[in-house]
Amino acid sequence: MQQAKRRILVTSALPYANGSIHLGHLLEHIQTDIWTRFQKLRGNSCYSVCADDAHGTPVMLKAQELGITPEQMVAQTREEHDRDLRAFLVEYDNYYVTHSEENREYCEFIYNRLKDNGYISTRTISQLYDPEKEMFLPDRFVKGECPKCGAKDQNGDSCDVCGFTYATTEIINPRSVVSGATPILKNSEHYFFDLPKFDDMLKGWIKSGAISDEIANKLEEWFEQGLQQWDISRDAPYFGFEIPGTKDKFFYVWVDAPVGYMASFKNFADRSGFDPDEYWQKDTETELYHFIGKDITYFHCLFWPAMLEGAGLRTPTGVNIHGFVTVNGAKMSKSRGTFIKASTYLDHLNPEYLRYYFASKLNDSVADIDLNFDDFVQKVNSDLIGKFVNIASRCAGFITKKFDGKLSDNIEAPSLLSEFTEKETLIAQLYEKRQYNKAIREIMALADKANQYIDTQAPWVTIKAPEKQTLTHDVCSMGLHLFRVLAIYLTPVLPVTARNIQSFLNDEFSWEAINEVKRNHSINKFKALMQRVDDKKVEALIEASKESLKEVQQGTQAASESAEEEKTVDIEPIAPVISFDEFSKIDLRVAKIVNAEHVEKADKLLRLELDIGNETRQVFAGIKSAYAPEQLVGKYTVMVANLAPRKMRFGVSEGMVLAAGPGGNELYVLSPDEGATAGMRVK
Ligand code: MSP
Ligand code: ZN
Repeated sequence: MQQAKRRILVTSALPYANGSIHLGHLLEHIQTDIWTRFQKLRGNSCYSVCADDAHGTPVMLKAQELGITPEQMVAQTREEHDRDLRAFLVEYDNYYVTHSEENREYCEFIYNRLKDNGYISTRTISQLYDPEKEMFLPDRFVKGECPKCGAKDQNGDSCDVCGFTYATTEIINPRSVVSGATPILKNSEHYFFDLPKFDDMLKGWIKSGAISDEIANKLEEWFEQGLQQWDISRDAPYFGFEIPGTKDKFFYVWVDAPVGYMASFKNFADRSGFDPDEYWQKDTETELYHFIGKDITYFHCLFWPAMLEGAGLRTPTGVNIHGFVTVNGAKMSKSRGTFIKASTYLDHLNPEYLRYYFASKLNDSVADIDLNFDDFVQKVNSDLIGKFVNIASRCAGFITKKFDGKLSDNIEAPSLLSEFTEKETLIAQLYEKRQYNKAIREIMALADKANQYIDTQAPWVTIKAPEKQTLTHDVCSMGLHLFRVLAIYLTPVLPVTARNIQSFLNDEFSWEAINEVKRNHSINKFKALMQRVDDKKVEALIEASKESLKEVQQGTQAASESAEEEKTVDIEPIAPVISFDEFSKIDLRVAKIVNAEHVEKADKLLRLELDIGNETRQVFAGIKSAYAPEQLVGKYTVMVANLAPRKMRFGVSEGMVLAAGPGGNELYVLSPDEGATAGMRVK
């Protein structure tokens, strides 16, 4: 039975226009793209749109720093983002920008409706203001001392040292990050959106199944704390849209950003000659899904549905929320070379590897997704090359060389083929529910079966026996029938490979085509579909992504201007000031390294034996990537001798040796000048 075609619109969160696309963004765009391609393969109508998020203070200041207009900066970044995403085979119907006429019109339209419906009010508030730069300062543009513990150089809203959160106005000795001036308090009238009025409506929307239970529980906490009036205006100077009927008041960037979804879609629809408004009507039959990261849940699950409702428009069918990317188990870090930009990745590796790897891990929860490079290499090589592509390369040659490039008339193992095609329903459900990891597991289990079949039949043996030619032909054809089904299953994940397979098989894929059987079908000559990942390329990628510690620390200045960096970059914290008493608690000793050796199964550690005069200590030091054991034996260094012993997988570490540098092979063990002897106290 032919199912009615669904009409779907999907979006990914709009990347900020002041930074490059990196692995974290890619997780989201790849997740969205796989889902969109899956829907299209199923025969549904599925549009996908995205855009750059152009507005706000960080973009404005960054453009000033570069000496260009924000418009110029945004135009450049938009182009770069669009190019990077396409290179990862992420195909939006439109990649637009929020600084557009369409967006201005929609924002004004929605605002006017909210106002007419009584959801907008004004109130005067007092905020820190930079008298030199003549602008109000968002929280993260103010630094100063923590009102609780006195730690210096803390952000405007919370203290990194003691964890205390406070109002920006409470910070001691505040200074503006922009000019260094001491901010003053200044009054200004702000516009507020009446979010509390949507309490019931939002609870109902959540019950409609638009979000997972995991997120619904999180939202429950927010409801319990009580929804607040939302401040939607910012004072000039601000890069954004002026609020209609006001002077020098602008929409806060988070007002026009989600409206940017509508604007991007309209820009596309206008070009394609259809009416997009049907997608936003309350009684629409179209479906709307937003793919986002967990950090922007509040905006998409409270403000945005409330704004739509308040303006008399439809609410999202679903908000699909993913976790954060970590690399090798830690936050992405510039000094470790794991803050990887899309363009750097592309210089070294095939984008389909990453699409496959992310697919093999993506699911419908908000758990973080770890990109472990050893696992990455292993998965790509063993699954994609060793299992999947291998099926075709084992069978195709014989068909071309011995059987005239034509598949046989006979299906050699019909029940095996049915086993493959019958998985169709389950795999479709898994894609639909965004459990790509499970879909991939199913597909790879089938690939194992196909390889077992070929192993058992051993066509490379039977080909030599003249009486077994028909069997060999049937077996190789069977291998390709199975391969074809797997290739259709993997099409949303590997679009380029799928395209190449379609030309090789002389075929056109759709989900329905899974049940077609290609008897007596002519195929083309097989060409290698994919290369193995080379470890060296991964190392080169990490090396190319490393920035020296100096750049990273300068980066903290720039980072305070970019929300993105604050979210994802782990910057070595600046140590708090300590008293002399605190310092004198540390027992630093000159130590002689009397022995150094590798530790089995540890990739970073060396085991050191340190002579500190009256005793020998065992220390596990993470310096393996910078030193060979023989370089260390006989060397003098400095150790922390009174560090509490730490039990590790390999034994107890009884102290710590001091080394400088960002890590990896850039690490320098400290040593005293000649003459110092083992056990001397450092003071
Ligand atoms: N501009 C806003 C979104 C506005 S949507 C109307 C924004 N931009 S962002 O560039 O900071 O993030 C864009 C998307 O990328 C968000 O969904 C965010 O969660 C996601 N990611 C950014 N860094 C990420 C990781 N390290 N890991 C996974 N996704 C993360 O927020
Ligand atoms: Zn503090």
